[in-house]
Formats: sequence, structure tokens, C-alpha cells
Amino acid sequence: MKDTMILHIHETNIDETLLLKAADAIRSNKTVILPTETVYGLGANALNSKAVDQIFIAKGRPQDNPLIVHVSNMTMVEQCVKRIPEDALALMHAFWPGPLTLILEKSDLIPQNVSAGLNTVGIRMPDHPIALKLIELANTPIAAPSANRSGKPSPTSAQHVIDDMQGRVDVIIAAEHSRIGLESTVLDMTQNPPLILRPGGVTLSQLQSVLPSVSIDPQVHHNVDTPRSPGMKYTHYAPQAEMLMVRGDHQQVVKKIIQLMDEHKHLKCGIICADEHIQDYPGLMCLSLGSLSNPAFMASQLFTILRTCDTLNLDYVITEAFEEEELGLALMNRLKKAVGYHILDV
Ligand code: TXA
Ligand code: MG
Repeated sequence: MKDTMILHIHETNIDETLLLKAADAIRSNKTVILPTETVYGLGANALNSKAVDQIFIAKGRPQDNPLIVHVSNMTMVEQCVKRIPEDALALMHAFWPGPLTLILEKSDLIPQNVSAGLNTVGIRMPDHPIALKLIELANTPIAAPSANRSGKPSPTSAQHVIDDMQGRVDVIIAAEHSRIGLESTVLDMTQNPPLILRPGGVTLSQLQSVLPSVSIDPQVHHNVDTPRSPGMKYTHYAPQAEMLMVRGDHQQVVKKIIQLMDEHKHLKCGIICADEHIQDYPGLMCLSLGSLSNPAFMASQLFTILRTCDTLNLDYVITEAFEEEELGLALMNRLKKAVGYHILDV
């Protein structure tokens, strides 16, 4: 067990003296959990392989799953990659800082364990004042996967990281709830056309407005054994409950969910739905993601709701399906993983 230092820092009023302690920890090759606009990350000095080893140990993460490197300026990008293609530069200008990770050819400064032996590296500049300031003060790129224990939903609040990681890391920066609440879009710039390996906060149409050729890796829609992004193959976000998604015409979905809830009434059951549909399931436990009129808010609540399934000790959880347009694609991507691709079409 480590003696974890918890630093309470507000993004609107950053206490630099406190943040310097976290930056010192990074510079001493220790592990620091930092807030970003997507989810909290478990960071360490990206240029030091021993520091990066500590990330894998803290997370219990398989060694073949590469990490994203977080930067605060273009000089750091130049340190991390062989070259910056023009298309990539255009995307950086349009969407950084922001929830977009670009896969590029890595430089020799990036240790093998960051890229899990690949010759590429994922880079992103987070849109979060604390993350940016921390990277700047540490004066080194920070490698950081999502700060959950492997297999758990990504953490979107300070409480989530404290629950998962106290005693396992050197420092936790406890800040506000993550604004976006889903991980960044991962875009492979080493493919032609560039491929979205993971949908996230920057949507397909946003990317295409800058680079019309951007496409979605077909593997995003399926559960695959040999994916291009190692992260695609791991079970993610799975609550302890048995999970099912019911998809189709809303009236049919409601009928089916009520029937299944009745068949499982000896178990502790829950329904993940939208505010507008709570009234359709009278007397049943509903965990609402929010109103259909606010997809960004729904996306930001998903991981909290999945964790709530565990805190309520639910045995059986059915979720509605949502529109797979824009941010909905990222939301449904995570939700499908959470249900282990158990989807019932009605
Ligand atoms: O929003 C985010 O991206 C958060 C915050 C902390 O920045 N980070 C995050 O990291 O979600 P992680 O490690 O949980 O997910 C990184 C994903 C994984 O699916 C991994 O396989 C993929 O990106 N990835 C990383 N480097 C890659 C590479 N060189 N080639 C292909 N996929 C890569
Ligand atoms: Mg993750």
C-alpha cells in the first residue's frame, strides 16, 4: 500500500503551490492521478520507462495495451513523434486542446512500454486547466490511461478515483466532475484514410469537416478478437450485474423490458433509461442518464450510472438503446461494451 497524497484543487482557482507537489512527483517518476475534460487519468513521466511501469502496476493493466501521451505544447509533440503530417497538424489546430487522440509514428524518446511495443504513439492535448498546468510545471509529456482499475468504468469524479486508486498511486488530484465524461476519440493517422478506433468527444462529422476522408474502423461496431487498437479487445466498464440492452421501437422495448423485469423479480434489478421514459416503467428501479434533449449530459453521466449499479448491488440491469449519431455513437459504444454486446432486438 502506498501513502497516497490527495490534493484538492479547483479548476477555476488553481492553487499552484499544491499543483507543484504533483508536478514534483511526476518529475520524480511517481504516479499522479490528474483530472482531464474526458475522464481522470493515471499519469507518469512518459519519457521514463520505470515511471510508466508504475502505471501498469497501479492499474492492473495488460502490458499489451498502449498508453496515451498528454502534452501541453507543440514542442512536446515534436519530442514524441517522428514527424507531424500536415493532416494531423490541421486536426491539432482544429481540436486541441480537446478530446482527440492522434496515433502517429513514435519517436525514439518514447519508451517501448508506453506504446506496448508498437511503433506508434497516441498523443493528445487535454482541454483542462489543471492537466495543462501540471504538464507544463512538470515540463515533460505525461502518459496516462484512464485512472480506473482495469475492467472498471473510467472515473469521472474524484470519488471514483479515490475508491479505485487510494493506496495504489503516489498522488491524487481531486478536482471537479469530468466535463465530457467519456474518453477521447482515438484517430489512427498512420492509416489511409485515417480511422477512428474509438469514438469520443470529437465526433465523426466534426473530424470530417476538417478532413473529409476520416472513416470509422468497422471494428468499432463489433466485438473483435484481432483489433487494430489493443484496447478494443478488453472487456470494459462491466458492472457486476448481468447486463442486457433492448433495442427497437420504443413501445416494444418498454413491453420487453417490463416482461424481463417480471421474469427476474427474484433478483435486484435496474433499468438504464432516459428521463422521458421513467414514467414507462412504473414501480421499477430506473437509473436515468438524463434528458434525451441533452445528449452531452447523458454521455457525461454514463460511467457514474454504471458504477451506481455496483454500489446498489444490482444483479440484473437492462438498458435502453440510444441514437448512434454524433456523441451518441460514443455513448452507445461504451454502453455496448458494458452489456458485453448482449443486445436483444425487438
Ligand atoms: O480521454 C482519454 O483518452 C483518457 C484521458 C485520461 O486522456 N485516456 C484514456 O486512456 O482513455 P486509455 O488508456 O484508457 O485508452 C487508450 C486507448 C486504448 O483503447 C488503447 O488501446 C488505444 O487508446 N491506443 C493507445 N495508443 C495506441 C496506439 N499506438 N495504437 C492504437 N491504439 C492505441
Ligand atoms: Mg481506459
